Amino acid sequence: MENAINWSELSFGYMKTDYNVRCWYRDGQWGELEVSSSEVINIHMSATCLHYGQESFEGLKAFRGKDGKIRVFRMDENAKRMQSSARGIMMAEFPVEKFEEAVYKAVKLNERFIPPYGSGASLYIRPLLIGTGALIGVKPSDEYMFLVFVTPVGPYFKTGFKPAPVCIMRSFDRAAPQGTGCYKVGGNYAASLLAGHKAHEKGYVAVLYLDPKEKLYLDECGPANFFAIRENTYITPASNSILPSITNKSLTQLAADMGLKVERRPISVSELSTFEETAECGTAAVITPISQIDDLDENRSYVYSKDGKPGPTCEKLYNKLFAIQTGDAPDPYGWVRIIE
Ligand code: PLP
Ligand code: COI
Repeated sequence: MENAINWSELSFGYMKTDYNVRCWYRDGQWGELEVSSSEVINIHMSATCLHYGQESFEGLKAFRGKDGKIRVFRMDENAKRMQSSARGIMMAEFPVEKFEEAVYKAVKLNERFIPPYGSGASLYIRPLLIGTGALIGVKPSDEYMFLVFVTPVGPYFKTGFKPAPVCIMRSFDRAAPQGTGCYKVGGNYAASLLAGHKAHEKGYVAVLYLDPKEKLYLDECGPANFFAIRENTYITPASNSILPSITNKSLTQLAADMGLKVERRPISVSELSTFEETAECGTAAVITPISQIDDLDENRSYVYSKDGKPGPTCEKLYNKLFAIQTGDAPDPYGWVRIIE
């Protein structure tokens, strides 16, 4: 069956794989990991995840190296972030070690779906944590389900590693100033759907959200963090309404290693005209350079790529990150776990 997959043509979509891994929290404790070959879950119609959004998900990737080995990138960070999301919306925290074991199993059992080295595709790993207890009052569930499935994917944005346009629209926020923006919970993505749809209709790949309190600073894009390059400096927003991106955290390290200064601070909209390069970054987006940012309310455009090519710093960062993820470059920080 795997022979039928055209790896280099894959988009960022769902494809059925062989197995997923599940675990249930009941009577105050997590049970054993269970392997399932069903794509369906059976939950109560009054489960808190369905009514009150008690849901968190994660996204990480496995890569096949030139040496044939399978590598998963920074899964401990995803495990910890899911714990933070769980605390943020009062769900039972899934233990880090169990998370890693579940990811390991899900990848290993679906090995035949891991795209080959050089195909431009990877295996996307989607952990999920949901409240399954049947409640009708707005209260945290006392039962939870954790699940990991995998699916082979191509680039999140059709453009891949090519500059793509984004827009600013002040009439939409993805998160509230003191809300759940820093957690990876489904509600943030539901809140981004309408703005994302309007942006797509206008030809943009994403919305660049501003800080929801004052609309003076840059926050992040719908599915990815934002960074800019100026005068040998990597600049990325500090904000409590954005998701702490593991890709961004990794890139700040790689940028520093390359001799760039790193600044994580509020970035004023007025700085947009001063940047040499801008990009989105995340597991799915990897680095997607931004060709131009159109501020639709102010009727202004900021252009970062006229020739359709990524800027030199984005390119260097992309190559370095990808080389570590696939084992082409040494892994000095122990970011990669080999699945044997
Ligand atoms: N911001 C948002 C809203 C996201 O959904 C994602 C994707 O996970 C990111 C940023 C990037 O985070 P990471 O690099 O950990 O994938
Ligand atoms: C990711 O980058 O893994 C994401 O979760 C982004 C998006 C698919 C929601």
